[in-house]
Amino acid sequence: MSPNVAARPLEGRLVVLGITGSIAAYKAPEIVRALRAAGADVQALLTPAATRFVSPLTLRTLTGRAVDADLLDLLPDGRIGHIVAADSADAILVAPATAQWLGAMAGGLAGDPVTAACLATGAPVIVAPAMDGEMWEHPATQSNARRLTEDFGYTLVAPESGELASGSSGVGRLAEIATIVTAVVRAIGNAPVREPNAAKRPPTVASGDLSGRRIVITAGGTEEAIDPVRILANRSSGRQGIALAEAARDRGADVLLIAARVAVPLPEGVEIVRAMSVAALEAALASALPAFTAQPAQGTASAAGATGADALIAAAAVSDFRPVGGAATEKLRRDGELVLRLESTPDLLAGVARRLGPRATRRTILVGFSAESGGTTRAAEKLASKDLDLVVANDVTAPGVGFESLDNAAVITGADGATTSVGPAPKRVVADAILDRVAALLAAQR
Ligand SMILES: Cc1cc2nc3c(=O)[nH]c(=O)nc-3n(C[C@H](O)[C@H](O)[C@H](O)COP(=O)(O)O)c2cc1C
Repeated sequence: MSPNVAARPLEGRLVVLGITGSIAAYKAPEIVRALRAAGADVQALLTPAATRFVSPLTLRTLTGRAVDADLLDLLPDGRIGHIVAADSADAILVAPATAQWLGAMAGGLAGDPVTAACLATGAPVIVAPAMDGEMWEHPATQSNARRLTEDFGYTLVAPESGELASGSSGVGRLAEIATIVTAVVRAIGNAPVREPNAAKRPPTVASGDLSGRRIVITAGGTEEAIDPVRILANRSSGRQGIALAEAARDRGADVLLIAARVAVPLPEGVEIVRAMSVAALEAALASALPAFTAQPAQGTASAAGATGADALIAAAAVSDFRPVGGAATEKLRRDGELVLRLESTPDLLAGVARRLGPRATRRTILVGFSAESGGTTRAAEKLASKDLDLVVANDVTAPGVGFESLDNAAVITGADGATTSVGPAPKRVVADAILDRVAALLAAQR
């Protein structure tokens, strides 16, 4: 055996690390480091409970690969996370494994990405439980652990004795990390690499091509009050804007997400400002993008110092109308017919473009969206009339894409006339295609 193999026994291997909701999940980043030090590529899968103990963002950063923390969420490239993990892993290591997870696995319940990947894989599975001493000793837990080893052929790295999170002492502490890594090396043995084709392994996260950049993104649909209980709203779910915020964050940007009404959870790892109405959004944009005053000093790559952001991606669906004179102060009564008089709202993006100065001289890249119905013909007009750098046009009436759906299809047009078509694809894929164009424009400014 060459010294290199001894030092890095997992070189070229993909180890999928399943993390479940034990207090010992705080050790997961250390397990990732130890596996990587042994030469492995690592992908993390988390149960929903595990995300309360350790951040997917931390694991994504440490592994350099997309994390699967939601069984029903697709990977950024649209593939099914637990199947990709199951098919490409040289080994699946579940550490720490909770009592709950042992029971779910023993029963064959595919309710989280970790059990689902284990059920779908032909790779060896190594399980390192961690729990309170009484939980570990319980006959139910013992019988579940036996089923995993005796019936499924999994390797069990038994918990050790010591001080537990509960404050008591006993057997239940996660085994030493070195012991766990040794068990993984042994379980893989001399088996051939299961998936040498990098494209079939879980996706690596895009390089940090936006690192050091400040990107402001608006998302969701604005709402205008009619009276104290009623609003005028639109059908935007905020998914595309949120996918943009997550993708920009993952590519290293410092992200400010200005969120109106959204139907999905807001992302972690980005700065968030809520702005529900057109007026609130206008105020948030004014504070995020103060008036352009000076060119940044020569050699400064980022425009953030001068204008507050390197790019503004205006993905929010902003109300075009609001009640004249504002909302009624009292709830409107159901007395016959109600006539609402509406006025047009200001065009916020055009306002930002005016404030920051003409495209030829401003340093902030401005990206607008054009929600089209039955074609994508207004995009070029919008690009010119608002003096934008990019317009993303999508047909919101096309089946399966646009508002409220998980997928989108878009044509991205630049001021130079260059177009990119993307989709139908998950909104995260569309987000990355938009950010590719933004990153290219920013790189060209240098
Ligand atoms: C602070 C805290 C620590 C916990 N630590 C453990 C643990 O070490 N082991 C365990 O089996 N359960 C532990 N639990 C309970 C699990 O989080 C709970 O059973 C959860 O449903 C596990 O879900 P999962 O197995 O799908 O991740 C803990 C709960 C709390 C609130």
